[in-house]
Amino acid sequence: MSQKNLSINYEEFASVSEMLPEDQELVAAALDAQKGSYSPYSHFQVGAALRLDNGLIVKGANQENVAYPSGLCAERVAMFWAGANYPDAVMETLAIAGANRGVLCESPASPCGSCRQVMAEYQKKQGKPLKIILVGSKRIRKFACVDDVLPLIFDSLKV
Ligand code: THU
Repeated sequence: MSQKNLSINYEEFASVSEMLPEDQELVAAALDAQKGSYSPYSHFQVGAALRLDNGLIVKGANQENVAYPSGLCAERVAMFWAGANYPDAVMETLAIAGANRGVLCESPASPCGSCRQVMAEYQKKQGKPLKIILVGSKRIRKFACVDDVLPLIFDSLKV
């Protein structure tokens, strides 16, 4: 037996103004996407903005249901819509912003395991990295690919 260690590299920004202009635009879109959240049960509004290589930014927001499992996270709303409408487009970067009763989380909300698995699938399909940006009011984190938010990825394709 030997002890092993996994480490993850990511960029952290204290303010959106430190980011690349295209990422600033995507963060603004994720914050705007929160307006589409239907979250009468959790009161947690999640907005997602997905940049495609065709120049489009696709937005998603969490959609809840009285039968709880029937709802869907913001990230999957955005990715599934993009996958259905632009099946040949590469998903370049996905920004996610979570707010509790309208207040953006200080530390960025992290995507759930199911959303990470869906990200992994699209990254595998396109054979190019899908970058992830997690938006908080005190810090913003940027990951270079899905592998960095889903270590020991199932059916891993290192890109
Ligand atoms: N939610 C998302 O939209 N994305 C995630 O990655 C985690 C959770 C939503 C689901 C539910 O509507 C609310 O946040 C509370 O869990």
